[in-house]
Amino acid sequence: MNIVNKSEIVRLGFIDIDVDKSLDIIEEINRMRKKKNAVILAHFYQDGSIQDIADFVGDSLGLSQQAAKTGADIILFAGVHFMAETAKILAPEKKVLIPDLQAGCSLADSCPPDDFAAFIKKHPGYTVISYVNTTADIKALTDIICTSTNALQIVESLPEDEKIIFAPDRNLGNYIQSVTGREMLIWDGACHVHEAFSLERILELKKQNPDAQIIAHPECEKQILIVADHIGSTTSLLNYTVRNEGKKFIVATESGILHQMQKESPDKLFIPAPPNDSTCACNDCEYMKMITLKKIYNTLKYELPEITLEQDLMDQARGSILRMLEISDRLKL
Ligand code: 13P
Ligand code: SF4
Repeated sequence: MNIVNKSEIVRLGFIDIDVDKSLDIIEEINRMRKKKNAVILAHFYQDGSIQDIADFVGDSLGLSQQAAKTGADIILFAGVHFMAETAKILAPEKKVLIPDLQAGCSLADSCPPDDFAAFIKKHPGYTVISYVNTTADIKALTDIICTSTNALQIVESLPEDEKIIFAPDRNLGNYIQSVTGREMLIWDGACHVHEAFSLERILELKKQNPDAQIIAHPECEKQILIVADHIGSTTSLLNYTVRNEGKKFIVATESGILHQMQKESPDKLFIPAPPNDSTCACNDCEYMKMITLKKIYNTLKYELPEITLEQDLMDQARGSILRMLEISDRLKL
């Protein structure tokens, strides 16, 4: 058996060992997860082949809810680092694995903890709401976490005169502010994938497909949201395409979600909204796509890389996530 080199894993972020070609990789993953009582949680932005083998596929809220209640001993997170970190904070007694430690998030990176701590200090008396796309350090500075599924309800759950800091996504923050009419201090962060959509190319597609509806994630810029027929989290976009009688949709979010949309509605056409870069037809998150079946196989086999966090940090960050889960439970989200 190959010996894993732990310093090499730290350097690369993943286990770089070839899988024996005679093995059926999916059969092996199934065998190991059963034997080890492991659960595979995958975000909608993962490659279709990974979504298809996951025990649960969902959006950020659904994945946190699953992590909080799973009876498994091992959680293998097919997603990005902040998601696996959230799972570890919610289930500290479990082993949480991520197939690539370098699967990060530009939005989480746009909110450095020291700068954010100074910002909060400058604005005393504000309730801090942060999007789940943040590091554990930011969660520890936050009163209530939200996701794109529940951001609106969480803001509305606070008294109308409550002073709110909203971080880190400026597009989601501006969108929630425009819908609720609440005054919020919004951190100036963004996701590079959702800010890359080209309005011009989307409108060109709409001209070619006048019967198509434009659906968009609230992390997109205002100019895209203004032309959208429906705005929502990945789950909300998916449900909309299932329930709506329309047969064609231009989808402005990461292209992984098209896999579920096509599975749920094989008779409908889903067109990925194009980015500004004219050499590309769709928008992939390179961090999400760092996770591969081979890395999942090696991660399950060697139980590495593992998410580890200081106990104190987890204890400081947990309250803000639990508050979100309580509100979501109460509102049946
Ligand atoms: P949701 O999972 O809340 O739809 O957010 C999408 C996202 O950007 C995750 O990185
Ligand atoms: Fe982060 Fe954007 Fe990738 Fe989501 S799509 S993980 S917000 S960089």
